[in-house]
Amino acid sequence: MRLSQTFFARAGPFLPEMVTVDATPILIQVAMATLETAVASPSGASAVESQALGLPDFSSDSYKDAYSRINAIVIEGEQEAHDNYISIGTLIPEQAEELTKLARMELKHMRGFTACASNLGVTADMPFAKEFFLPLHQNFQTALAEGKVVTCLLIQAILIEAFAISAYHIYIPVADPFARKITEGVVKDEYTHLNYGQEWLKANLDTARQELEQANRQNLPLVRKMLEQVAGDAAVLQMDQEDLMADFLSSYQEALVEVGFTNREIAKMAAAALVG
Ligand SMILES: [Fe+2]
Ligand SMILES: [Fe+2]
Repeated sequence: MRLSQTFFARAGPFLPEMVTVDATPILIQVAMATLETAVASPSGASAVESQALGLPDFSSDSYKDAYSRINAIVIEGEQEAHDNYISIGTLIPEQAEELTKLARMELKHMRGFTACASNLGVTADMPFAKEFFLPLHQNFQTALAEGKVVTCLLIQAILIEAFAISAYHIYIPVADPFARKITEGVVKDEYTHLNYGQEWLKANLDTARQELEQANRQNLPLVRKMLEQVAGDAAVLQMDQEDLMADFLSSYQEALVEVGFTNREIAKMAAAALVG
């Protein structure tokens, strides 16, 4: 029942501006100072500085081990997002140009997160990440083959984007200074993508409603499982699972409000995560 409790407790708008609200002035000052010394210390902060700030030790083996999987998930997620937007463009050819722009942004994100791993001297565990995304990947591919644009948009532009936004929100306050700067830039773009999905589904809600509800029932439980699966590694990075879940549901709920669902309909759709 914890899921539904956090859902209602955290219900409400979560705007991009709020990302910076979490960062206290002292953190920003230290981050700026450590960025200047990033050449001497690739993570941008020494173990002593990190501990003093209550941040993880970015150079520890346990951090790097967890980061190799989390970072791989992020890289794979950005790659999937790129491929998915290109694919969606084949289903709505009149939108292909716009969707190609979104896809390009995803590749830029991917390159940014690849640089984050290099900066920490970490090799991303890509086979793990491919496996992690497989169920959602397969559902997307099936929907694509059937020409189900509504399902494709729900998976990519609502669920994956909301998942990414929540992960980046929770990561930013505990990230190393180099990764923090990159992630802050990325999260703004992800809102643009979420917005794209919202607007398309809103404009087509009359015909999309039934497919949307069914696609949600099939795919929201997968996202819940992904959030659960990542919890152990996320905890090593000081990212709290309940915060991740709450933030995800916040973004997801906001998106569905924008699409035109009532609170009761959204609660019912969110319940799919509990029973799936
Ligand atoms: Fe992205
Ligand atoms: Fe995106």
